[in-house]
Amino acid sequence: MAARGVLLLAVLHCCSVALCGCEPRLVNVGAVLSQKRYEQVFKDAVTQANDLYGKDKFKMNAISVTHKPNAIQMALSVCEDLISNQVYAILVSHPPQSNDHLTPTPVSYTAGFYRIPVVGLTTRMSIYSDKSIHLSFLRTVPPYSHQAQVWFDLMREFRWNHIILIVSDDHEGRAAQKKLETLLEERETKAEKVLLFSQDTNLTALLLEAKDLEARVIILSASEDEAMAVYKAARQLNMTGSGYVWLVGEREMSGKALSEAPDGLLGLQLINGKNESAHITDAVAVVAQSLQELFEKENITEPPRGCVGNTNIWRTGPLFKRVLMASKYPDGLTGRIEFNDDGDRRFATYSILNHQKAGRVIQVGVFNGTQVVMNPQRKIIWPGGETEKPVGYQMSTRLKIVTIHQEPFVYVKPTQSDGTCQQEHTVNGVVIKKVICTGPNGTIPGQPIVPQCCYGFCIDLLIKLAMSMNFTYEVHLVADGKFGTQERVRLLPRPDRTGIRPVSDQ
Ligand SMILES: *[C@@H]1O[C@H](CO)[C@@H](O)[C@H](O)[C@H]1NC(C)=O
Ligand SMILES: *[C@@H]1O[C@H](CO)[C@@H](O)[C@H](O)[C@H]1NC(C)=O
Ligand SMILES: *[C@@H]1O[C@H](CO)[C@@H](O)[C@H](O)[C@H]1NC(C)=O
Ligand SMILES: *[C@@H]1O[C@H](CO)[C@@H](O)[C@H](O)[C@H]1NC(C)=O
Ligand SMILES: *[C@@H]1O[C@H](CO)[C@@H](O)[C@H](O)[C@H]1NC(C)=O
Ligand SMILES: *[C@@H]1O[C@H](CO)[C@@H](O)[C@H](O)[C@H]1NC(C)=O
Ligand SMILES: *[C@@H]1O[C@H](CO)[C@@H](O)[C@H](O)[C@H]1NC(C)=O
Repeated sequence: MAARGVLLLAVLHCCSVALCGCEPRLVNVGAVLSQKRYEQVFKDAVTQANDLYGKDKFKMNAISVTHKPNAIQMALSVCEDLISNQVYAILVSHPPQSNDHLTPTPVSYTAGFYRIPVVGLTTRMSIYSDKSIHLSFLRTVPPYSHQAQVWFDLMREFRWNHIILIVSDDHEGRAAQKKLETLLEERETKAEKVLLFSQDTNLTALLLEAKDLEARVIILSASEDEAMAVYKAARQLNMTGSGYVWLVGEREMSGKALSEAPDGLLGLQLINGKNESAHITDAVAVVAQSLQELFEKENITEPPRGCVGNTNIWRTGPLFKRVLMASKYPDGLTGRIEFNDDGDRRFATYSILNHQKAGRVIQVGVFNGTQVVMNPQRKIIWPGGETEKPVGYQMSTRLKIVTIHQEPFVYVKPTQSDGTCQQEHTVNGVVIKKVICTGPNGTIPGQPIVPQCCYGFCIDLLIKLAMSMNFTYEVHLVADGKFGTQERVRLLPRPDRTGIRPVSDQ
Protein backbone atom coordinates (compact mmCIF):
# COMPACT_ATOMS: atom_id res chain seq x y z
CA MET A 1 0.00 0.00 0.00
CA ALA A 2 2.74 2.37 1.03
CA ALA A 3 4.86 1.45 -1.99
CA ARG A 4 1.94 2.19 -4.29
CA GLY A 5 1.47 5.58 -2.68
CA VAL A 6 5.08 6.47 -3.29
CA LEU A 7 4.77 5.36 -6.93
CA LEU A 8 1.63 7.46 -7.39
CA LEU A 9 3.40 10.44 -5.87
CA ALA A 10 6.33 9.95 -8.18
CA VAL A 11 4.00 9.81 -11.20
CA LEU A 12 2.19 12.96 -10.07
CA HIS A 13 5.50 14.67 -9.55
CA CYS A 14 6.62 13.77 -13.05
CA CYS A 15 3.44 15.14 -14.55
CA SER A 16 3.63 18.36 -12.66
CA VAL A 17 7.21 18.82 -13.82
CA ALA A 18 6.16 18.29 -17.43
CA LEU A 19 3.24 20.65 -17.03
CA CYS A 20 5.19 23.51 -15.51
CA GLY A 21 7.37 23.50 -18.64
CA CYS A 22 10.65 23.09 -16.85
CA GLU A 23 11.44 19.87 -18.69
CA PRO A 24 10.93 19.82 -22.46
CA ARG A 25 8.73 17.08 -23.81
CA LEU A 26 10.80 14.20 -25.19
CA VAL A 27 9.77 13.42 -28.77
CA ASN A 28 11.03 10.29 -30.45
CA VAL A 29 11.56 10.41 -34.20
CA GLY A 30 12.23 7.16 -36.05
CA ALA A 31 14.13 6.39 -39.23
CA VAL A 32 14.64 3.40 -41.50
CA LEU A 33 17.88 4.04 -43.36
CA SER A 34 19.63 2.30 -46.21
CA GLN A 35 22.98 1.88 -44.47
CA LYS A 36 24.40 1.86 -40.98
CA ARG A 37 26.56 4.91 -41.66
CA TYR A 38 23.50 7.14 -42.15
CA GLU A 39 22.39 6.51 -38.56
CA GLN A 40 25.06 8.93 -37.35
CA VAL A 41 23.96 11.48 -39.96
CA PHE A 42 20.44 11.16 -38.60
CA LYS A 43 21.60 11.58 -34.98
CA ASP A 44 23.63 14.65 -35.90
CA ALA A 45 20.71 16.16 -37.82
CA VAL A 46 18.44 15.68 -34.79
CA THR A 47 21.00 17.27 -32.45
CA GLN A 48 21.36 20.18 -34.82
CA ALA A 49 17.60 20.65 -35.14
CA ASN A 50 17.16 20.50 -31.35
CA ASP A 51 19.34 23.61 -31.08
CA LEU A 52 17.13 25.48 -33.52
CA TYR A 53 13.61 24.30 -32.74
CA GLY A 54 11.55 23.41 -29.75
CA LYS A 55 13.43 25.61 -27.28
CA ASP A 56 12.06 24.44 -23.91
CA LYS A 57 8.93 22.91 -25.37
CA PHE A 58 10.29 19.68 -26.84
CA LYS A 59 13.47 17.81 -27.52
CA MET A 60 13.78 15.25 -30.28
CA ASN A 61 15.45 11.90 -29.85
CA ALA A 62 16.69 9.86 -32.82
CA ILE A 63 15.85 6.16 -33.09
CA SER A 64 16.93 4.41 -36.26
CA VAL A 65 17.17 1.01 -37.89
CA THR A 66 18.33 -0.17 -41.31
CA HIS A 67 16.28 -1.96 -43.96
CA LYS A 68 15.50 -5.60 -43.30
CA PRO A 69 15.82 -8.31 -45.97
CA ASN A 70 12.10 -8.93 -46.28
CA ALA A 71 8.78 -7.16 -45.80
CA ILE A 72 7.67 -9.11 -42.72
CA GLN A 73 10.91 -8.51 -40.84
CA MET A 74 10.72 -4.86 -41.84
CA ALA A 75 7.16 -4.47 -40.54
CA LEU A 76 8.11 -6.21 -37.29
CA SER A 77 11.11 -3.97 -36.84
CA VAL A 78 8.95 -0.87 -37.35
CA CYS A 79 6.65 -2.12 -34.57
CA GLU A 80 9.30 -3.34 -32.15
CA ASP A 81 12.05 -0.80 -32.64
CA LEU A 82 10.17 2.35 -33.57
CA ILE A 83 6.43 2.37 -32.75
CA SER A 84 7.07 0.77 -29.35
CA ASN A 85 9.06 3.94 -28.61
CA GLN A 86 6.09 6.15 -29.49
CA VAL A 87 7.65 7.80 -32.52
CA TYR A 88 5.92 10.92 -33.86
CA ALA A 89 7.17 10.37 -37.40
CA ILE A 90 9.31 7.88 -39.34
CA LEU A 91 11.81 8.80 -42.03
CA VAL A 92 12.41 6.13 -44.65
CA SER A 93 15.03 5.97 -47.36
CA HIS A 94 14.88 3.74 -50.41
CA PRO A 95 16.59 0.37 -49.84
CA PRO A 96 20.07 0.15 -51.40
CA GLN A 97 19.55 -2.78 -53.82
CA SER A 98 16.00 -2.08 -54.64
CA ASN A 99 13.94 -4.82 -56.24
CA ASP A 100 10.29 -5.73 -56.13
CA HIS A 101 10.56 -7.26 -52.69
CA LEU A 102 12.52 -4.51 -51.01
CA THR A 103 10.70 -1.21 -50.83
CA PRO A 104 9.56 1.32 -48.21
CA THR A 105 6.07 -0.20 -48.51
CA PRO A 106 6.07 -2.24 -45.27
CA VAL A 107 7.17 0.88 -43.39
CA SER A 108 4.48 2.97 -45.03
CA TYR A 109 1.77 0.36 -44.42
CA THR A 110 2.68 -0.32 -40.79
CA ALA A 111 3.06 3.30 -39.73
CA GLY A 112 0.14 4.36 -41.93
CA PHE A 113 -2.13 1.93 -40.11
CA TYR A 114 -1.66 4.05 -36.96
CA ARG A 115 -1.56 7.31 -38.99
CA ILE A 116 2.02 7.98 -37.96
CA PRO A 117 3.47 10.22 -40.70
CA VAL A 118 6.15 8.63 -42.90
CA VAL A 119 8.62 10.91 -44.68
CA GLY A 120 10.18 9.26 -47.72
CA LEU A 121 13.72 10.39 -48.46
CA THR A 122 14.79 8.90 -51.78
CA THR A 123 11.75 6.98 -53.04
CA ARG A 124 10.72 8.02 -56.55
CA MET A 125 8.06 5.52 -57.62
CA SER A 126 4.77 7.22 -58.44
CA ILE A 127 2.66 4.66 -56.59
CA TYR A 128 3.55 6.39 -53.28
CA SER A 129 1.51 9.40 -54.40
CA ASP A 130 -1.63 7.29 -54.15
CA LYS A 131 -3.05 8.39 -50.81
CA SER A 132 -5.63 5.61 -50.69
CA ILE A 133 -2.72 3.17 -50.33
CA HIS A 134 0.02 5.23 -48.68
CA LEU A 135 -2.16 7.41 -46.53
CA SER A 136 0.48 8.87 -44.22
CA PHE A 137 3.30 9.14 -46.76
CA LEU A 138 5.02 12.30 -47.92
CA ARG A 139 8.50 12.73 -49.39
CA THR A 140 11.32 15.17 -49.95
CA VAL A 141 11.73 13.99 -53.57
CA PRO A 142 9.23 14.12 -56.44
CA PRO A 143 7.95 10.94 -58.14
CA TYR A 144 9.34 10.01 -61.57
CA SER A 145 6.08 11.09 -63.19
CA HIS A 146 6.82 14.72 -62.28
CA GLN A 147 9.61 14.63 -64.86
CA ALA A 148 6.79 15.23 -67.36
CA GLN A 149 6.88 18.85 -66.26
CA VAL A 150 10.47 19.16 -67.41
CA TRP A 151 9.75 17.38 -70.72
CA PHE A 152 6.89 19.77 -71.25
CA ASP A 153 9.09 22.77 -70.58
CA LEU A 154 11.80 21.39 -72.88
CA MET A 155 9.17 21.15 -75.64
CA ARG A 156 8.51 24.86 -75.11
CA GLU A 157 12.21 25.70 -75.00
CA PHE A 158 12.99 23.85 -78.26
CA ARG A 159 9.64 24.60 -79.93
CA TRP A 160 8.72 21.01 -80.56
CA ASN A 161 5.01 20.60 -81.11
CA HIS A 162 4.91 17.03 -82.33
CA ILE A 163 5.76 14.26 -79.91
CA ILE A 164 5.39 10.54 -79.66
CA LEU A 165 5.01 9.27 -76.12
CA ILE A 166 6.18 5.71 -75.51
CA VAL A 167 5.33 4.47 -72.02
CA SER A 168 5.27 1.19 -70.17
CA ASP A 169 1.77 -0.06 -69.50
CA ASP A 170 2.14 -0.05 -65.72
CA HIS A 171 1.42 2.37 -62.89
CA GLU A 172 4.61 4.35 -63.46
CA GLY A 173 4.12 4.72 -67.20
CA ARG A 174 0.48 5.68 -66.94
CA ALA A 175 1.28 8.23 -64.22
CA ALA A 176 3.83 9.88 -66.53
CA GLN A 177 1.36 9.79 -69.42
CA LYS A 178 -1.39 11.37 -67.31
CA LYS A 179 0.88 14.11 -66.03
CA LEU A 180 2.15 15.02 -69.50
CA GLU A 181 -1.30 14.87 -71.08
CA THR A 182 -2.67 17.20 -68.41
CA LEU A 183 0.07 19.72 -69.17
CA LEU A 184 -0.42 19.40 -72.94
CA GLU A 185 -4.16 19.87 -72.56
CA GLU A 186 -3.58 23.21 -70.88
CA ARG A 187 -1.81 24.28 -74.03
CA GLU A 188 -4.62 22.75 -76.09
CA THR A 189 -2.36 20.26 -77.76
CA LYS A 190 -1.64 16.56 -77.42
CA ALA A 191 0.84 13.88 -78.34
CA GLU A 192 0.60 12.77 -81.94
CA LYS A 193 0.45 9.26 -80.57
CA VAL A 194 0.78 7.49 -77.24
CA LEU A 195 2.24 4.01 -77.57
CA LEU A 196 1.92 1.70 -74.57
CA PHE A 197 4.04 -1.39 -74.29
CA SER A 198 4.16 -4.33 -71.92
CA GLN A 199 6.44 -7.33 -71.55
CA ASP A 200 4.78 -9.13 -74.48
CA THR A 201 4.90 -6.21 -76.88
CA ASN A 202 6.91 -6.61 -80.09
CA LEU A 203 8.98 -3.44 -79.72
CA THR A 204 10.06 -3.55 -83.37
CA ALA A 205 6.45 -3.42 -84.49
CA LEU A 206 5.72 -0.67 -81.94
CA LEU A 207 8.62 1.46 -83.15
CA LEU A 208 7.69 0.90 -86.80
CA GLU A 209 4.36 2.44 -85.94
CA ALA A 210 6.17 5.43 -84.45
CA LYS A 211 8.39 5.69 -87.53
CA ASP A 212 5.35 6.16 -89.75
CA LEU A 213 4.24 9.22 -87.81
CA GLU A 214 5.21 12.81 -88.48
CA ALA A 215 6.66 13.52 -85.04
CA ARG A 216 10.35 12.87 -84.52
CA VAL A 217 10.50 13.71 -80.82
CA ILE A 218 10.20 10.51 -78.84
CA ILE A 219 9.55 10.74 -75.11
CA LEU A 220 10.13 7.48 -73.28
CA SER A 221 9.05 6.41 -69.80
CA ALA A 222 10.35 2.95 -68.95
CA SER A 223 12.34 0.98 -66.42
CA GLU A 224 16.06 0.46 -66.98
CA ASP A 225 15.57 -2.96 -68.58
CA GLU A 226 12.68 -1.85 -70.75
CA ALA A 227 14.52 1.25 -71.93
CA MET A 228 17.51 -0.87 -72.90
CA ALA A 229 15.29 -3.08 -75.07
CA VAL A 230 13.61 -0.06 -76.69
CA TYR A 231 16.98 1.51 -77.55
CA LYS A 232 18.23 -1.75 -79.10
CA ALA A 233 15.14 -2.10 -81.28
CA ALA A 234 15.24 1.60 -82.25
CA ARG A 235 18.87 1.34 -83.32
CA GLN A 236 18.08 -1.56 -85.65
CA LEU A 237 15.34 0.49 -87.27
CA ASN A 238 17.69 3.46 -87.76
CA MET A 239 15.57 5.50 -85.39
CA THR A 240 18.48 6.80 -83.36
CA GLY A 241 20.10 8.90 -86.07
CA SER A 242 19.72 12.38 -87.53
CA GLY A 243 16.36 14.03 -87.25
CA TYR A 244 15.26 12.11 -84.18
CA VAL A 245 15.07 13.43 -80.62
CA TRP A 246 15.05 11.07 -77.66
CA LEU A 247 13.84 12.67 -74.46
CA VAL A 248 13.84 10.52 -71.33
CA GLY A 249 13.90 10.64 -67.54
CA GLU A 250 16.32 9.37 -64.94
CA ARG A 251 15.71 5.62 -65.00
CA GLU A 252 15.98 5.53 -68.79
CA MET A 253 19.57 6.76 -68.64
CA SER A 254 20.82 4.84 -65.62
CA GLY A 255 22.84 1.64 -65.39
CA LYS A 256 22.06 -0.89 -68.10
CA ALA A 257 19.89 1.58 -70.01
CA LEU A 258 22.78 4.02 -70.28
CA SER A 259 25.01 1.42 -71.92
CA GLU A 260 22.52 1.07 -74.80
CA ALA A 261 21.34 4.68 -74.87
CA PRO A 262 21.60 6.33 -78.28
CA ASP A 263 24.13 9.13 -78.71
CA GLY A 264 22.35 12.46 -78.55
CA LEU A 265 19.80 11.32 -75.98
CA LEU A 266 18.54 13.98 -73.54
CA GLY A 267 17.72 12.79 -70.04
CA LEU A 268 17.10 14.09 -66.56
CA GLN A 269 18.60 13.58 -63.14
CA LEU A 270 17.12 14.87 -59.92
CA ILE A 271 19.75 17.08 -58.31
CA ASN A 272 20.69 15.54 -54.94
CA GLY A 273 18.14 12.81 -55.66
CA LYS A 274 20.40 10.09 -54.31
CA ASN A 275 22.04 12.14 -51.56
CA GLU A 276 20.55 10.39 -48.56
CA SER A 277 22.49 12.55 -46.06
CA ALA A 278 21.13 15.77 -47.46
CA HIS A 279 17.57 14.42 -47.44
CA ILE A 280 17.91 13.13 -43.88
CA THR A 281 19.04 16.57 -42.73
CA ASP A 282 16.25 18.34 -44.60
CA ALA A 283 13.54 15.91 -43.48
CA VAL A 284 14.60 16.24 -39.82
CA ALA A 285 14.45 20.04 -40.11
CA VAL A 286 10.96 19.87 -41.64
CA VAL A 287 9.80 17.47 -38.90
CA ALA A 288 11.24 19.71 -36.17
CA GLN A 289 9.64 22.82 -37.64
CA SER A 290 6.30 21.01 -37.87
CA LEU A 291 6.51 19.65 -34.33
CA GLN A 292 6.96 23.19 -33.09
CA GLU A 293 3.77 24.16 -34.86
CA LEU A 294 1.96 21.00 -33.70
CA PHE A 295 2.63 21.68 -30.02
CA GLU A 296 1.02 25.10 -30.37
CA LYS A 297 -2.25 23.30 -31.00
CA GLU A 298 -4.69 21.89 -28.46
CA ASN A 299 -5.41 18.32 -27.43
CA ILE A 300 -2.22 16.74 -28.77
CA THR A 301 -2.23 13.05 -27.89
CA GLU A 302 0.72 10.72 -27.62
CA PRO A 303 1.44 8.30 -30.47
CA PRO A 304 0.62 4.60 -29.90
CA ARG A 305 3.12 2.49 -28.01
CA GLY A 306 3.83 -0.66 -30.02
CA CYS A 307 1.63 -2.70 -32.30
CA VAL A 308 0.77 -5.72 -30.13
CA GLY A 309 -2.91 -5.63 -29.19
CA ASN A 310 -3.12 -2.09 -30.44
CA THR A 311 -5.54 -1.32 -33.27
CA ASN A 312 -6.37 2.29 -32.49
CA ILE A 313 -5.10 4.99 -34.76
CA TRP A 314 -3.11 7.90 -33.36
CA ARG A 315 -5.73 10.63 -33.09
CA THR A 316 -3.23 13.43 -33.62
CA GLY A 317 -1.57 11.62 -36.57
CA PRO A 318 -3.77 13.08 -39.35
CA LEU A 319 -3.34 16.57 -37.90
CA PHE A 320 0.43 16.17 -37.76
CA LYS A 321 0.49 14.95 -41.35
CA ARG A 322 -1.46 18.04 -42.43
CA VAL A 323 0.99 20.28 -40.58
CA LEU A 324 3.92 18.51 -42.25
CA MET A 325 2.35 18.75 -45.72
CA ALA A 326 1.72 22.46 -45.29
CA SER A 327 5.26 23.22 -44.13
CA LYS A 328 7.50 25.57 -46.04
CA TYR A 329 11.22 25.23 -45.54
CA PRO A 330 13.10 27.54 -47.88
CA ASP A 331 16.73 26.79 -47.03
CA GLY A 332 17.09 23.03 -47.25
CA LEU A 333 20.36 21.46 -48.40
CA THR A 334 18.30 20.15 -51.32
CA GLY A 335 16.68 23.53 -51.96
CA ARG A 336 13.26 24.92 -51.23
CA ILE A 337 11.07 22.29 -49.58
CA GLU A 338 7.31 22.31 -50.01
CA PHE A 339 4.82 19.55 -50.69
CA ASN A 340 1.86 19.23 -53.01
CA ASP A 341 -1.51 17.74 -52.06
CA ASP A 342 -0.17 14.23 -52.60
CA GLY A 343 2.72 14.87 -50.22
CA ASP A 344 5.23 14.99 -53.08
CA ARG A 345 8.10 17.44 -53.20
CA ARG A 346 7.42 20.60 -55.16
CA PHE A 347 10.02 22.81 -56.87
CA ALA A 348 12.43 19.94 -57.46
CA THR A 349 15.53 20.77 -59.47
CA TYR A 350 16.90 18.54 -62.24
CA SER A 351 20.04 18.33 -64.31
CA ILE A 352 19.38 18.10 -68.03
CA LEU A 353 21.89 15.62 -69.38
CA ASN A 354 23.11 14.89 -72.90
CA HIS A 355 24.48 11.45 -73.74
CA GLN A 356 27.31 12.01 -76.16
CA LYS A 357 29.84 9.82 -77.92
CA ALA A 358 31.71 7.12 -76.01
CA GLY A 359 29.30 7.16 -73.09
CA ARG A 360 30.08 10.73 -72.07
CA VAL A 361 27.24 12.37 -70.18
CA ILE A 362 27.28 16.17 -70.12
CA GLN A 363 25.07 18.51 -68.15
CA VAL A 364 23.64 20.94 -70.71
CA GLY A 365 21.12 22.73 -68.52
CA VAL A 366 18.96 22.60 -65.44
CA PHE A 367 15.33 22.75 -64.50
CA ASN A 368 15.44 25.21 -61.62
CA GLY A 369 12.16 24.21 -60.02
CA THR A 370 9.96 26.26 -62.28
CA GLN A 371 11.59 26.31 -65.69
CA VAL A 372 14.32 25.04 -67.97
CA VAL A 373 17.52 27.07 -68.08
CA MET A 374 19.92 25.80 -70.76
CA ASN A 375 23.64 26.37 -70.45
CA PRO A 376 24.73 28.18 -73.63
CA GLN A 377 28.35 27.12 -73.00
CA ARG A 378 27.50 23.45 -73.30
CA LYS A 379 26.47 22.51 -76.82
CA ILE A 380 24.06 19.65 -77.20
CA ILE A 381 25.12 16.91 -79.59
CA TRP A 382 21.89 15.56 -81.08
CA PRO A 383 21.34 12.07 -82.55
CA GLY A 384 23.42 11.51 -85.67
CA GLY A 385 26.08 13.88 -84.32
CA GLU A 386 24.01 16.91 -85.33
CA THR A 387 24.81 20.21 -83.64
CA GLU A 388 21.68 21.97 -84.88
CA LYS A 389 18.48 21.42 -82.95
CA PRO A 390 16.23 18.99 -84.90
CA VAL A 391 12.91 20.48 -86.02
CA GLY A 392 11.15 17.58 -84.36
CA TYR A 393 9.02 16.38 -87.24
CA GLN A 394 9.40 15.06 -90.76
CA MET A 395 7.35 16.38 -93.60
CA SER A 396 6.06 13.38 -95.42
CA THR A 397 6.95 13.57 -99.11
CA ARG A 398 4.88 10.51 -99.88
CA LEU A 399 1.23 11.49 -100.13
CA LYS A 400 -1.85 9.34 -100.28
CA ILE A 401 -4.19 10.64 -102.96
CA VAL A 402 -7.83 9.58 -103.06
CA THR A 403 -9.83 10.01 -106.24
CA ILE A 404 -12.95 8.74 -107.99
CA HIS A 405 -13.89 7.44 -111.42
CA GLN A 406 -15.26 10.55 -113.15
CA GLU A 407 -14.53 11.02 -116.83
CA PRO A 408 -12.90 13.10 -118.24
CA PHE A 409 -11.18 14.00 -114.97
CA VAL A 410 -10.31 10.44 -114.06
CA TYR A 411 -10.61 7.40 -116.32
CA VAL A 412 -10.15 3.95 -114.79
CA LYS A 413 -9.16 0.91 -116.84
CA PRO A 414 -7.97 -2.56 -115.85
CA THR A 415 -4.26 -3.28 -115.99
CA GLN A 416 -2.76 -5.59 -118.56
CA SER A 417 -2.13 -9.20 -117.60
CA ASP A 418 1.46 -8.30 -116.58
CA GLY A 419 0.17 -5.61 -114.18
CA THR A 420 1.24 -2.62 -116.28
CA CYS A 421 -0.89 -0.05 -118.04
CA GLN A 422 -1.45 -0.26 -121.76
CA GLN A 423 0.36 2.49 -123.65
CA GLU A 424 -2.04 4.78 -125.55
CA HIS A 425 -1.79 8.03 -127.49
CA THR A 426 -4.11 10.97 -127.89
CA VAL A 427 -5.41 11.92 -131.31
CA ASN A 428 -2.48 14.34 -131.45
CA GLY A 429 -0.04 11.50 -130.87
CA VAL A 430 0.90 12.48 -127.34
CA VAL A 431 1.49 9.64 -124.86
CA ILE A 432 -1.32 9.44 -122.28
CA LYS A 433 0.21 9.45 -118.81
CA LYS A 434 -1.21 6.69 -116.63
CA VAL A 435 -0.64 5.81 -112.99
CA ILE A 436 -1.48 2.74 -110.96
CA CYS A 437 -4.44 3.35 -108.66
CA THR A 438 -5.99 0.82 -106.31
CA GLY A 439 -9.70 0.42 -105.80
CA PRO A 440 -12.63 -1.98 -106.20
CA ASN A 441 -12.32 -4.04 -109.34
CA GLY A 442 -14.11 -2.30 -112.21
CA THR A 443 -14.96 0.50 -109.70
CA ILE A 444 -17.89 -1.63 -108.61
CA PRO A 445 -18.38 -1.24 -104.84
CA GLY A 446 -17.86 -4.46 -102.92
CA GLN A 447 -15.49 -5.96 -105.52
CA PRO A 448 -11.98 -6.87 -104.36
CA ILE A 449 -9.49 -3.99 -104.17
CA VAL A 450 -7.09 -4.40 -107.11
CA PRO A 451 -4.48 -2.26 -108.88
CA GLN A 452 -5.89 -0.49 -111.93
CA CYS A 453 -4.84 2.24 -114.31
CA CYS A 454 -5.94 5.83 -113.84
CA TYR A 455 -5.52 8.73 -116.26
CA GLY A 456 -7.23 11.91 -117.27
CA PHE A 457 -7.14 15.60 -116.48
CA CYS A 458 -6.71 15.21 -112.69
CA ILE A 459 -3.97 12.64 -113.08
CA ASP A 460 -2.06 14.92 -115.48
CA LEU A 461 -2.35 17.67 -112.89
CA LEU A 462 -1.12 15.38 -110.10
CA ILE A 463 1.95 14.32 -112.09
CA LYS A 464 2.75 17.98 -112.80
CA LEU A 465 2.34 19.05 -109.15
CA ALA A 466 4.44 16.15 -107.87
CA MET A 467 7.25 17.20 -110.18
CA SER A 468 7.23 20.86 -109.20
CA MET A 469 6.60 20.33 -105.49
CA ASN A 470 8.88 17.32 -105.09
CA PHE A 471 6.57 14.72 -103.58
CA THR A 472 5.74 11.14 -104.38
CA TYR A 473 2.27 9.68 -104.18
CA GLU A 474 0.08 6.65 -104.23
CA VAL A 475 -3.41 6.87 -105.73
CA HIS A 476 -6.48 5.18 -104.31
CA LEU A 477 -10.06 5.06 -105.58
CA VAL A 478 -12.87 5.53 -103.05
CA ALA A 479 -14.22 2.15 -102.06
CA ASP A 480 -17.90 3.08 -102.23
CA GLY A 481 -17.54 4.92 -105.54
CA LYS A 482 -19.32 7.93 -104.08
CA PHE A 483 -18.50 11.52 -103.50
CA GLY A 484 -18.32 12.71 -99.94
CA THR A 485 -21.55 13.73 -98.34
CA GLN A 486 -22.00 16.48 -95.87
CA GLU A 487 -22.26 15.16 -92.35
CA ARG A 488 -22.58 17.20 -89.22
CA VAL A 489 -20.16 16.07 -86.59
CA ARG A 490 -21.27 16.86 -83.09
CA LEU A 491 -19.23 19.38 -81.09
CA LEU A 492 -17.50 20.66 -84.20
CA PRO A 493 -18.65 24.09 -85.36
CA ARG A 494 -18.06 23.39 -89.04
CA PRO A 495 -19.62 20.52 -90.98
CA ASP A 496 -17.15 17.80 -91.82
CA ARG A 497 -17.15 15.57 -94.83
CA THR A 498 -16.72 11.92 -95.52
CA GLY A 499 -15.12 10.61 -98.64
CA ILE A 500 -13.83 13.08 -101.20
CA ARG A 501 -15.14 16.42 -102.37
CA PRO A 502 -16.81 16.73 -105.75
CA VAL A 503 -15.44 19.39 -108.04
CA SER A 504 -18.60 21.46 -107.72
CA ASP A 505 -20.32 21.73 -104.36
CA GLN A 506 -23.90 20.46 -104.41
C1 LIG B 1 8.03 -8.17 -84.55
O1 LIG B 1 7.49 -7.35 -85.54
C2 LIG B 1 8.30 -7.28 -86.73
C3 LIG B 1 7.70 -6.25 -87.65
O2 LIG B 1 6.31 -6.28 -87.67
C4 LIG B 1 8.35 -8.65 -87.36
O3 LIG B 1 9.15 -8.61 -88.53
C5 LIG B 1 8.96 -9.63 -86.35
O4 LIG B 1 8.93 -10.94 -86.89
C6 LIG B 1 8.17 -9.60 -85.05
N1 LIG B 1 8.90 -10.39 -84.07
C7 LIG B 1 8.32 -11.31 -83.34
C8 LIG B 1 9.19 -12.04 -82.39
O5 LIG B 1 7.14 -11.57 -83.46
C1 LIG C 1 19.56 1.20 -91.49
O1 LIG C 1 20.65 1.84 -92.12
C2 LIG C 1 21.60 0.94 -92.64
C3 LIG C 1 22.76 1.72 -93.16
O2 LIG C 1 22.37 2.97 -93.65
C4 LIG C 1 20.95 0.08 -93.71
O3 LIG C 1 21.88 -0.86 -94.20
C5 LIG C 1 19.77 -0.66 -93.11
O4 LIG C 1 19.08 -1.39 -94.08
C6 LIG C 1 18.81 0.29 -92.46
N1 LIG C 1 17.78 -0.45 -91.76
C7 LIG C 1 16.50 -0.11 -91.80
C8 LIG C 1 15.57 -1.00 -91.05
O5 LIG C 1 16.09 0.88 -92.40
C1 LIG D 1 25.31 15.42 -50.19
O1 LIG D 1 24.86 16.63 -49.62
C2 LIG D 1 25.77 17.16 -48.66
C3 LIG D 1 25.11 18.35 -48.04
O2 LIG D 1 24.64 19.25 -49.03
C4 LIG D 1 27.08 17.53 -49.35
O3 LIG D 1 27.98 18.04 -48.42
C5 LIG D 1 27.64 16.28 -50.00
O4 LIG D 1 28.78 16.60 -50.73
C6 LIG D 1 26.62 15.64 -50.90
N1 LIG D 1 27.12 14.36 -51.37
C7 LIG D 1 27.13 14.03 -52.64
C8 LIG D 1 27.65 12.68 -52.97
O5 LIG D 1 26.72 14.79 -53.51
C1 LIG E 1 -9.96 19.88 -27.08
O1 LIG E 1 -10.73 19.03 -26.26
C2 LIG E 1 -11.78 19.70 -25.58
C3 LIG E 1 -12.45 18.70 -24.65
O2 LIG E 1 -12.68 17.47 -25.30
C4 LIG E 1 -12.75 20.27 -26.60
O3 LIG E 1 -13.76 20.97 -25.95
C5 LIG E 1 -11.99 21.21 -27.53
O4 LIG E 1 -12.86 21.69 -28.55
C6 LIG E 1 -10.82 20.49 -28.16
N1 LIG E 1 -10.05 21.44 -28.93
C7 LIG E 1 -9.71 21.22 -30.21
C8 LIG E 1 -8.92 22.30 -30.88
O5 LIG E 1 -9.99 20.19 -30.77
C1 LIG F 1 14.37 29.91 -62.75
O1 LIG F 1 14.89 30.58 -63.86
C2 LIG F 1 14.08 31.63 -64.33
C3 LIG F 1 14.72 32.19 -65.58
O2 LIG F 1 16.10 32.32 -65.46
C4 LIG F 1 13.92 32.68 -63.24
O3 LIG F 1 13.07 33.70 -63.70
C5 LIG F 1 13.33 32.04 -62.01
O4 LIG F 1 13.25 32.95 -60.96
C6 LIG F 1 14.16 30.84 -61.60
N1 LIG F 1 13.49 30.16 -60.51
C7 LIG F 1 14.14 29.73 -59.45
C8 LIG F 1 13.33 29.03 -58.42
O5 LIG F 1 15.33 29.88 -59.32
C1 LIG G 1 -11.75 -8.09 -112.00
O1 LIG G 1 -12.87 -8.15 -112.82
C2 LIG G 1 -12.61 -8.76 -114.06
C3 LIG G 1 -13.84 -8.63 -114.93
O2 LIG G 1 -15.01 -8.63 -114.18
C4 LIG G 1 -12.22 -10.21 -113.83
O3 LIG G 1 -11.92 -10.83 -115.03
C5 LIG G 1 -11.00 -10.25 -112.92
O4 LIG G 1 -10.67 -11.58 -112.60
C6 LIG G 1 -11.26 -9.49 -111.66
N1 LIG G 1 -10.02 -9.45 -110.90
C7 LIG G 1 -9.93 -9.81 -109.61
C8 LIG G 1 -8.57 -9.72 -108.96
O5 LIG G 1 -10.91 -10.17 -108.97
C1 LIG H 1 13.37 16.28 -103.63
O1 LIG H 1 13.34 15.43 -102.49
C2 LIG H 1 14.39 14.51 -102.41
C3 LIG H 1 14.15 13.57 -101.25
O2 LIG H 1 13.67 14.25 -100.13
C4 LIG H 1 15.69 15.28 -102.28
O3 LIG H 1 16.80 14.38 -102.24
C5 LIG H 1 15.83 16.22 -103.47
O4 LIG H 1 17.00 17.02 -103.31
C6 LIG H 1 14.62 17.11 -103.61
N1 LIG H 1 14.71 17.89 -104.83
C7 LIG H 1 14.40 19.19 -104.88
C8 LIG H 1 14.53 19.83 -106.24
O5 LIG H 1 14.02 19.81 -103.90
